[in-house]
Amino acid sequence: MNEKLSTLEQNIATAQLGGGETRIASQHKKGKLTARERLHFLLDEGSFEEIGMFVTHRSSEFGLDKEKYLGDGVVTGYGRVDGRLVYVFAQDFTVFGGSLSESHAEKICRIMDLAMENGAPVIGLNDSGGARIQEGVVSLGGYADIFYKNTRASGVIPQISAIMGPCAGGAVYSPAITDFILMVENTSYMFVTGPNVVKTVTHEEVTSEELGGAITHSTKSGVTHFACANEIECIQNVKRLLSHMPSNCEETAPRRPYQSDNELRPQLNNIIPENPNQPYDIREVIYEVIDEGDNGFCEVHKNYAENIVVGFARLAGRSIGIVANQPAFLAGVLDINSSTKAARFVRFCDCFNIPLLVFEDVPGFLPGTDQEWHGIITNGAKLLYAFSEATVPRITVITRKAYGGAYDVMNSKHIGADMNYAWPTAEIAVMGARGAAEIIFKNEIAKAKDPAAKLKEKEEEYVKHFANPYRAAERGYVDEVITPDVTRMKLIKAFEMLENKVAKLPKKKHGNIPL
Ligand code: HXC
Repeated sequence: MNEKLSTLEQNIATAQLGGGETRIASQHKKGKLTARERLHFLLDEGSFEEIGMFVTHRSSEFGLDKEKYLGDGVVTGYGRVDGRLVYVFAQDFTVFGGSLSESHAEKICRIMDLAMENGAPVIGLNDSGGARIQEGVVSLGGYADIFYKNTRASGVIPQISAIMGPCAGGAVYSPAITDFILMVENTSYMFVTGPNVVKTVTHEEVTSEELGGAITHSTKSGVTHFACANEIECIQNVKRLLSHMPSNCEETAPRRPYQSDNELRPQLNNIIPENPNQPYDIREVIYEVIDEGDNGFCEVHKNYAENIVVGFARLAGRSIGIVANQPAFLAGVLDINSSTKAARFVRFCDCFNIPLLVFEDVPGFLPGTDQEWHGIITNGAKLLYAFSEATVPRITVITRKAYGGAYDVMNSKHIGADMNYAWPTAEIAVMGARGAAEIIFKNEIAKAKDPAAKLKEKEEEYVKHFANPYRAAERGYVDEVITPDVTRMKLIKAFEMLENKVAKLPKKKHGNIPL
């Protein structure tokens, strides 16, 4: 018996070393943690239970039969984050560069099956050179199995991908199907084809970092939702995200204990500038309204399409998703990128029963050939569709401008918002006063002795008539015009009132969002 025990112990020790001490040292030298170290930081102490520690590959091509590592380049299992069950896989770069073999893929699929059957999130820590080249098509099949399961799991359980090393070729598509991607600056990258292929095909010279690093994907492409300074920050962000979501689509997000306090926020009365064309940072409004100020806002896609701000927060202890136009960037206009960014966020919240709060200050959609030719129509429609389809409690606060089609799109009552508040500074109209006056008083202005003075007069007339929330309130499009300082109090009460909302979509296979 003793001998058998010691064989087991020895095997466990071997498995825990992955590809060996030299490769672990090389991983550390690159500023990267090992798969097991990452799991240690992610999961509650002592909670990790490993599955498939002794799995090896079954390939004999290119001498692989002589090179086997226990676990085959991926550590899989389950554990707890803040006491809640999660399923995890962490690719081990020290074994064949974390490349995906048939067995490696089977281990990930097993975790995903268990997660689906038991209704808990899957967290993938990716660090892989892609398909195990020696295995050929078998490895490609393994990837496809994962993509298929990612898609089946979408909207059923949250899926989070942390990219902590290379992620090339087909390997990028599993993370892309999951709900959130986080990358680590300088040590992780994602691309379909690497710099060498790019150089051959397009003759562009580009580094891995420029082509698909964390900064590139968090600012230019929007592929990643978070760019993190290092791996620890990345893992902390995974945990923070998880704290805002339920374990599956049948549940609601965990609620933090909350003691009712003085909910008045007088500072909100001083945020909107006197001049309606002057910008302000919508985050100032968000921080005043939510629990815990700026510490309480988990902003998603912070540096991408900055004309819209999205993220998770808590209101009286309850998780909510916030979508807010950002007047401090491009005047908060809706364009292609901001529409897609917000639409994806709205759909995530709706999948997982997270109520939505919208702050609206939008001058309209961005005009121009660039936007039209790249499909602002289809892309703007994504946001319209996402809000219209969402059945979670939905509240809008119009802080200033609500112009044109953007008024409809930004969670108006017409497309199913439950409550719509406006501040006295709200301007709800088809378009800005100047443009409106130029069109509807065109002849009168042209005939005037002083056309400029006439335009100004007509502009003022339009402002007086429409640049306020009262026309919309008369119709019930706005439920209440409120002073900014009571906003938090009103929202807490309204979300409580909507807590048991039941709204169903018509019976269908699935909708056809304009993609
Ligand atoms: C097998 C691999 C591997 C792979 C790396 N290794 N990638 N083994 N299959 N895909 C091994 C290396 O041989 C090496 O083994 C160890 O991992 C570390 O690799 P290095 O090259 O020394 O590390 P580094 O310099 O950090 O470079 C990492 C890398 C590079 C950028 C990932 O290894 C690389 O370019 N790999 C190939 C990437 C690729 O083209 N993958 C296929 C993508 S196509 P030793 O024994 O020396 O430690 C794809 C199709 C899927 O994925 C499609 C699905 C639809």
